[in-house]
Amino acid sequence: MTLDDIAQDIRTHTGCGSEPCETCRNFVPGEGPADARVVIVGEAPGASEDRTGRPFVGNAGKLLDSLLEAAGLLREDVFITNVVKARPPGNRDPKAPEVAHHRPWLEAQLEIVEPDLVVPLGRHALRHFAAGAQISKVHGTLVGERLFPLYHPAAALHNPRLRETLIADARALGAQLQQKN
Ligand code: URA
Repeated sequence: MTLDDIAQDIRTHTGCGSEPCETCRNFVPGEGPADARVVIVGEAPGASEDRTGRPFVGNAGKLLDSLLEAAGLLREDVFITNVVKARPPGNRDPKAPEVAHHRPWLEAQLEIVEPDLVVPLGRHALRHFAAGAQISKVHGTLVGERLFPLYHPAAALHNPRLRETLIADARALGAQLQQKN
């Protein structure tokens, strides 16, 4: 099984009955190299991602690019994906059964990449890795062996203070990665 196999499986599966899968324009499986040291995990694609089939290409994605730069990383060196691989209608939050339907694909991606750090963005993505953890408490810190949560960049788009926190956390992420060398 390769990352391409997983992407193909996501794009071609039919009849699951899950609303995002039925209504999206494009699936967004995620992208990046199989030997990435960092996997970034968002919640679900938005409108720009739905249009292009690529993760984090809208405004939140531009901020993510700055965060990667602050961490000393190149976008093409990290694997970027979402918990849910299809845009929920109207950008609503994914429902629990939808998350459960998509979760095996995320697990399979993580099994292949085996990153040094998994970076959930925001509280929804964090919940899948550390139920009960609060993003306001754990952002910018190592949780367990390899979890390094950050606030979701979309939350910082209109909040300059949060943006400063995110940039500082991204630098801490870079430092953490150095330590793991
Ligand atoms: N927000 C997300 O959580 N994921 C994307 O791919 C884009 C915006």
